[in-house]
Amino acid sequence: MRGPEPRSEIASLPLYVPGATRGRAGGPVIKLSSNESALGPSPAALQAYSAHADTLLRYPETGCDTLRGALAERHGLEVARLVCGNGSDQIVHALTVLYAGPGDEVIFSQYGFLRFKLSAIASGATPVSAKEVVHTVSVDALLAAVTERTKVVLLANPNNPTGTYIPRAELEQLCAALPATVLLVIDSAYAEFVERDDYSDGADLVRGAENIVMTRTFSKAYGLAGLRLGWAYGPESVVEAFNRARLPFPVSSAAQAAGVAALQDESHLRAVVAHNAGAVVWVADRTRDLALPPLPSVTNFNTCRVGEPGTGRAQAALDFLARRNILVRPLDPYGLDNYLRITVGLDKENEKLVDGLAKFVDSHMSGGLGASDPNRCVS
Ligand SMILES: Cc1ncc(COP(=O)(O)O)c(C=O)c1O
Repeated sequence: MRGPEPRSEIASLPLYVPGATRGRAGGPVIKLSSNESALGPSPAALQAYSAHADTLLRYPETGCDTLRGALAERHGLEVARLVCGNGSDQIVHALTVLYAGPGDEVIFSQYGFLRFKLSAIASGATPVSAKEVVHTVSVDALLAAVTERTKVVLLANPNNPTGTYIPRAELEQLCAALPATVLLVIDSAYAEFVERDDYSDGADLVRGAENIVMTRTFSKAYGLAGLRLGWAYGPESVVEAFNRARLPFPVSSAAQAAGVAALQDESHLRAVVAHNAGAVVWVADRTRDLALPPLPSVTNFNTCRVGEPGTGRAQAALDFLARRNILVRPLDPYGLDNYLRITVGLDKENEKLVDGLAKFVDSHMSGGLGASDPNRCVS
């Protein structure tokens, strides 16, 4: 007997594979596989979260009004144009399925965040990938991919997994040239980490447009990935559509409280960003010295080339590190099988990572015997 069947496009939806959480040696791990914060959340956010235990019998604010008020104040944005969601992933997904469907096209860049392709497929639309130039979004390619069927363009700036960004001027060029009927979602999940004068998180472009949305997250610099808290700034018409279609209580009350407290603790955020700025360069310099060159990152991770495509070197390095309980991210789902994405950790964790990579290079890539490494094994 045949049971119910999901919509046909669901069968072609690849399963999302999250960053590894378990090492191969048992015991504690150094988790550099999900671009989480090295320093973790603000103590004030943790306290607000715990303090919430007494009121868990109550439903949360449906519209996250307190949190939206805090976001509006912190970022100088209009509260009526803000929405909060169960992670920014959920907002990007909801917007995609709201604005695109069967017969439509959703555009993203070649190495664009994988969520984009998955949401495009789930919406029933045709996913369209636009070529990048040296692992960086090409606005020309995005625009060349636009047809009369295009409904949504999804752009992460900076992008994960490449760590690269396009400057404000190119973002402006994209916004100006896109048809007004196409929704542009600028996913600025890593905005807090970017310290470049020519960078824009997109908020100023949203302000003057009817078809641009910026999404942000508490999962990265704010260190609250486990709470699932994201937000977006967009035109009122988009906000209204989003609110009509959303579930009534998408964000838990504890997450809302922790988010407000995290926003108020600016010194913690500064410490996170300062640590990252030093550490991301430190790791990049070491991997470069090991002939594992990183892409130019403005985020909290480095994406390093490990040998040539098709040689299995990157997977061998990942396995080698995993046997030492150091977890990094493979990028085969992006067609980048000779790259590894390595999140910035604490200084000690970064040192262990570099030590592990050095041993891998010594034993697997430089033709040496690697005799100094007692754990060495040929993958
Ligand atoms: C570009 C990008 N956008 C969004 C997210 C997810 O954010 P959230 O945890 O808020 O769903 C990530 C997480 O890896 C990301 O890299």
